[in-house]
Amino acid sequence: MKIIAYGIRNDEKPFLEEWKQNNPEVEVKVETKLLDSSTVDEAKGFDGVVAYQQKPYTAEILDKLGEFGIKSLSLRNVGVDNVDADAAKRNNITVTNVPAYSPNAIAELAITEIMRLLRNTKRFEDKQRSGDLRWAPEIAEELNKKTVGVLGTGRIGRVLIDICRGFGAKVIGYDPFRNPELDKQGIYVDTPDELFKQSDIISLHAPAVKENEHIVNEHTLSLMKDGSYIINAARGSLVDTDALIKALDSGKLAGAALDTYEDEVGVFNVNFDSFDDISDDRLKNLMKRDNVLVSPHIAFYTKTAVKNMVQLSMDANRDLINTGKSDKIVEL
Ligand code: NAD
Ligand code: COI
Repeated sequence: MKIIAYGIRNDEKPFLEEWKQNNPEVEVKVETKLLDSSTVDEAKGFDGVVAYQQKPYTAEILDKLGEFGIKSLSLRNVGVDNVDADAAKRNNITVTNVPAYSPNAIAELAITEIMRLLRNTKRFEDKQRSGDLRWAPEIAEELNKKTVGVLGTGRIGRVLIDICRGFGAKVIGYDPFRNPELDKQGIYVDTPDELFKQSDIISLHAPAVKENEHIVNEHTLSLMKDGSYIINAARGSLVDTDALIKALDSGKLAGAALDTYEDEVGVFNVNFDSFDDISDDRLKNLMKRDNVLVSPHIAFYTKTAVKNMVQLSMDANRDLINTGKSDKIVEL
């Protein structure tokens, strides 16, 4: 059996090597380039393809894979929105993803940022750089006195709920599909508006479907308590960035943490060499603020998550080739 793995980064290589050692019967070609029209021909002669990229998996690419007799495409990430579903279907290509490579990775980044905002760490670090080691006026707040509102109580939201409870916070949630266990515990409010009204901190953990676009907007922000916080480690499209900036300017929001951002593609995970060279002025406006924490979509970026992304996608591809089955098949 032969699998070609595209877009393999240096940090993924040791995990792929480990997988190869545990699966000596599989011949694996490691390709550092992404899968696109210029590299797809390299897949000729292989039985399956493993990839992760934000670039689209176009009809042109999928038709070529079909032509080469490849029936298995395994993605190392969650989202499959960049796969041309019609082209995959007409070529009988089965697609798998890795839906839960580490919900903890994302929840742990969310709690890190919540604590950094409440304890004013960015302000203290900024002051220290100019030799100012005084306490005032950065007096902090305690999480155990706060209400955390979790929007989306799926895999990641549920881990964050447990973590926040461990800190002694009151946690409430909103989800159109309630988790029965959490429902019994009475965690849910009935509407998103209620969540925005009652929370001191809102953490977003819902998917980037059309209905959720700009779920954080002028209206929902106006419902929030004065001096509250927004955390977005889900998807940039959930937040209307202009409305967020207005709410920060007015003091309605005391702060925000953004691991994802509306216009992040082509900006996050890019080295611009200097702050001035970053191409997005709205993003720079946010990054300059001492009460806004911007991270370039790093919540997933842990050793545990990356290992799982590599090894579980390779398992899925191997299983698809061997049996046509996998518990990670995505309905396109
Ligand atoms: P999940 O599918 O397990 O849970 C999502 C939950 O959101 C579901 O329970 C769903 O019913 C709920 N939901 C849908 N619309 C909602 C709405 N309008 N209001 C409230 N809840 C709503 O997904 P997950 O694995 O927990 O992922 C959550 C988010 O995190 C996704 O957007 C995902 O893309 C993102 N994510 C980010 C990173 C990162 O590195 N920052 C990594 C992985 C996932
Ligand atoms: C996801 O898996 O949905 C992520 O957000 C992480 C991805 C950028 C690798």
